[in-house]
Order: sequence, then C-alpha cells, then structure tokens
Amino acid sequence: MIIAVDGPAGAGKSTVARIIAQKLGFLYIDTGAMYRAITLKSLEKNIGAADEAKLIEMARSTDIGLVNSADGPLKIFLDGRDASRLIREPRITRLVSDIAKIRGIREIMLGLQRKLGRQRDSVLDGRDIGTVVFPDADRKFFIDADFKERVRRRHKELIEAGQGVSEKDVEEDLRNRDKIDSTREFAPLKKAEDAIRVDTTNLTIDEVVEKVLSYING
Ligand code: DC
Repeated sequence: MIIAVDGPAGAGKSTVARIIAQKLGFLYIDTGAMYRAITLKSLEKNIGAADEAKLIEMARSTDIGLVNSADGPLKIFLDGRDASRLIREPRITRLVSDIAKIRGIREIMLGLQRKLGRQRDSVLDGRDIGTVVFPDADRKFFIDADFKERVRRRHKELIEAGQGVSEKDVEEDLRNRDKIDSTREFAPLKKAEDAIRVDTTNLTIDEVVEKVLSYING
C-alpha cells in the first residue's frame, strides 16, 4: 500500500506522516529530506543552483539512504554518512527550493522515491507524491494550515532545535519557498484532485493522526 502525504512546509505533514507510518508498520519516506541531502552536497562541492548540468551529474553519483527506527526520527545518510542534522540547517532550507525545481534533479529523485516506495508498504511525504511520484497511491492526503500558523509552528520547531531564528525570517523563508514550490514548472506543489484535504490549523497532532487513520481504515 502507498500513502501519499503532500502539503506546504509547516503544516504538520512530516510529523503526521511519520506517526502514521509507525502506527501502521510502514516505511516512512521523507522526500523533502532527499532534496535537502542533494542541496547539502551541492554546497559542499561548491556547485551553484545555476549550474544545472553539474548538479545533475553530481546527483547521479550520490547515494541517499533513509533509515527508519522503531520510535526515533528518520535518519538520512548522504554517501554513507549521517547527515540528518546538517540537512535541517537554515543554509539548506534557504536553498533547497531552488535545487528542487531543476527538472533533472527531480527525475533522479523520482526514480529513487518510486524504487523505495515499491519495496514495501510506505508513507511518502512531499509536494508531488499524489500528483507525480505515485498518482495511483492507495490513499492521498493534502495537509494544509493557515500561513500564520505554519510560521508559528516552524519557528517553534527551530527554536526547540536550538536554532535562534526570528519569526520574521521564518515567515520570509516560508513565503519564498511556498512561491517557488507552487509556481515551478515541473511537479509543483498542488493538491491531487483525489486527495483528501486536512486543514490542521485548529487541530492537535493526535487529532490529525486520528483523522488520517480513520480515512485510511475507512
Ligand atoms: O518538506 P521539506 O521542507 O523538508 O522540503 C524541502 C524542500 O524540498 C521544499 O521546499 C521543496 C522540496 N520538495 C519538493 O520539491 N518535492 C518533494 N516531494 C519534497 C520536497
């Protein structure tokens, strides 16, 4: 079974997708983390977002591994080393949408995501899972929340992770990424027609999980 969970940043998508996967015993595939890993490597190799050919060549020879643990967070391995923390740094967040809009990069990630998802029952979270990666997914969700609430949540998350950013910076980042992610030419952020929209603005995580599970089991 494939469960697609799409939506903008800060809507609670990753948290919900991870919990659902744990509860169902499915593999959790965070596709945003894969774009983040590519972005991290591009910075380390000093390849700018404008140098598409070089980036694509780099991505082709990159090994990205996702390791699910029973209760902890997902671990992301970039060419064999644990990059789980590094990929969440603000320098990555600022740049990732520009890397993720490159068609050749998306094609490589698409292949990897499909291969991973077909191995076993999976929950994939991202922007284009229900529209492009798995248009035939068994269940599709579009997790959304009001912009202000998404800013508040992302800010809280970053502060808790020890990253001292201002709410204004978070707001700017989200606005910028929403715009790039939803207006790009290839696989933009969009609700699949047959996806169930869940507005999480006034819901707790438990309530969202319950709602999503009831649709999955229903
Ligand atoms: O979910 P996230 O914030 O970790 O995602 C980081 C970026 O990756 C996001 O701004 C857009 C891109 N992305 C994408 O283009 N397609 C996906 N399926 C997942 C993420």
